[in-house]
Amino acid sequence: MKIVVITGGSRGIGAATAIACAASGLGVILTYNANPGRAAEVVRAIEAGGGRAVALPLDVADVAGFPAFRAEVAAALAATWGRAAFDALVNNAGYGLYRPIEAVTEAEFDGLYRVHLKGPFFLTQTLLPLIAADGHIVNIVSATSRVATAGVAPYAGFKAGLEVLTRYQAEEFGPRRIRANAIAPGPIRTELGGGLSAEFEAVLAGQTALGRVGEPDDVGGVVAGLLSEQNRWINAQTIEVGGGYRI
Ligand SMILES: NC(=O)c1ccc[n+]([C@@H]2O[C@H](COP(=O)([O-])OP(=O)(O)OC[C@H]3O[C@@H](n4cnc5c(N)ncnc54)[C@H](OP(=O)(O)O)[C@@H]3O)[C@@H](O)[C@H]2O)c1
Repeated sequence: MKIVVITGGSRGIGAATAIACAASGLGVILTYNANPGRAAEVVRAIEAGGGRAVALPLDVADVAGFPAFRAEVAAALAATWGRAAFDALVNNAGYGLYRPIEAVTEAEFDGLYRVHLKGPFFLTQTLLPLIAADGHIVNIVSATSRVATAGVAPYAGFKAGLEVLTRYQAEEFGPRRIRANAIAPGPIRTELGGGLSAEFEAVLAGQTALGRVGEPDDVGGVVAGLLSEQNRWINAQTIEVGGGYRI
């Protein structure tokens, strides 16, 4: 059985991705940060559908904790699937902050940097020895790097950095037969940044060709599909999943 590690799998897009991957036959290791109960619910939902999943704690901002996390992943792989490696890493964990450039503090800037760029860089580096040949890295970036959306400048900047990093991962990991792609969601109805107000959601729906904002499983299914054997030749790409947001 192929196995995927998904960061931030307790809620939103990560939870939907975990459920979609399990439905397509993958074993799932999902991580949570502040919400172990929500992660346990996702594990239960996967098990109810006949899948296998394990939830592990991880703070993506804490690079010093990554070696211990790698050891926990290795232990979970051995105990649950009898394997020493996994097949796909989805760097999904994240949070939003709406703040005009003039008001962003250095601490806010650094916090977003740690979770959205530094964390995925070093987590991938740390877990690389556990990623099997023909493996895959998927980085969740954002349509806000393509079109400016007032109030998310540092976030969008770091997501753009992660998008570039994706191509470098594809280049450097290609010889190990590991591909790397980025998925850039448009506006999705999750709890990110405190969730979308009804007013803001109406504006975003009006800016989307298909006339609504996305749901988490609009993205989760795409990630699961990208990991499938049929899509094995897609590499080093950013794929926007936004229903035609601000085209
Ligand atoms: N929603 C959108 O419109 C949208 C658009 C473009 C891109 N994205 C990106 O999609 C990804 C998922 O976002 P979402 O909308 O699903 O958000 P969400 O519903 O708020 O879920 C965020 C997830 O990330 C985890 N997380 C947050 N901070 C973390 C940290 N420091 N360490 C480890 N895990 C952490 C949370 O874990 P706990 O709950 O356990 O704390 C939760 O599982 C993010 O990278 C986001 O930037 C979202």
